[in-house]
Amino acid sequence: MKNLAQFVQALPKAELHLHIEGSFEPELMFEIAKRNNISIPFNSVEEVKAAYKFNNLQEFLDIYYAGANVLITEQDFFDLTWAYLIKVHSQNVKHVELFFDPQTHTERGVEFHTVLLGIYKALEQGEKELGISFRLIMSYLRHLSEESAFETFNQSLPFKDLIDGVGLDSSEVGNPPEKFEKVFQASAEEGYKLCAHAGEEGPAEYIWGALDILRVDRIDHGNRCLDDEKLVERLVKEQMPLTLCPLSNLELKVIQDLKDFPLKRMMELGLLVTLHSDDPAYFGGYMNENFIETAKAIDLSKEEIGTLMKNGFEASWLTTEEKEKWKVEIDAFAKEY
Ligand code: HPA
Ligand code: ZN
Repeated sequence: MKNLAQFVQALPKAELHLHIEGSFEPELMFEIAKRNNISIPFNSVEEVKAAYKFNNLQEFLDIYYAGANVLITEQDFFDLTWAYLIKVHSQNVKHVELFFDPQTHTERGVEFHTVLLGIYKALEQGEKELGISFRLIMSYLRHLSEESAFETFNQSLPFKDLIDGVGLDSSEVGNPPEKFEKVFQASAEEGYKLCAHAGEEGPAEYIWGALDILRVDRIDHGNRCLDDEKLVERLVKEQMPLTLCPLSNLELKVIQDLKDFPLKRMMELGLLVTLHSDDPAYFGGYMNENFIETAKAIDLSKEEIGTLMKNGFEASWLTTEEKEKWKVEIDAFAKEY
């Protein structure tokens, strides 16, 4: 396709799978480390970037949690989120639903409200000044206990009007969905929407568990559903969204080559798939790079890219009217292009 980059840039986009701590660019990490007087084990931005070579999810998580250690004050969380919003505004992202990991910070003694309010105030300002609408998802860390997730859940209750949903992330294998059945149920009863990472490194059974035990509204990643025909049938029938992250899959060796990214097969099967960036500062790309690199590797057509963009809004937690508005805009633009 001619002008692939221009086409991707121009279309309005929805980011639904983004860990705000994973948008922490090394330049800002150094700046915040310095002002908080915290030492980090690197001498330069280049040295940090050279360390970003991962063989699996856990190797990445170890570095991701280490990076998050320098975040202390509300201003730090504001600056992190604001930098992300400025970046994606330049990529014509119109709606974000972002994850934050409270336990990564409360475990170090940072208060829940410090984290939440820093992020939330930046999102509010982003909506006002940049026109980016948002939803906020609090993710439970699955390598910690359900009791710890419950503590986080309880801390969130005074602020529940600021939080739209809960997620489940961190080390997947060995931490199946059923470990969090009760806290997900309690979260649903408080009106939180539900999503969970499942089938990134973990098996298809974890996707069944996310559906039947956690009763999620959306699956994050979900690649491994392809191992199970009955599961695919179910996901197609329910039009359950799968938020895929191609550059993340490549960097964490979920796939060995972007050419192996099974997106076309998933679309042909009728799955409601969307493309996102996961941890862009660590995986080498925000929304546009994920679309462009994938489109090049597996030769996506203009129509397929348009469908993926529309799926992003369809799978979001926007109202039906808002979804419709964006989908009409995407269709109109793609037709003209
Ligand atoms: N997978 C699981 N947990 C995470 C990720 C991821 O890609 N990024 C941040 N936490
Ligand atoms: Zn993720």
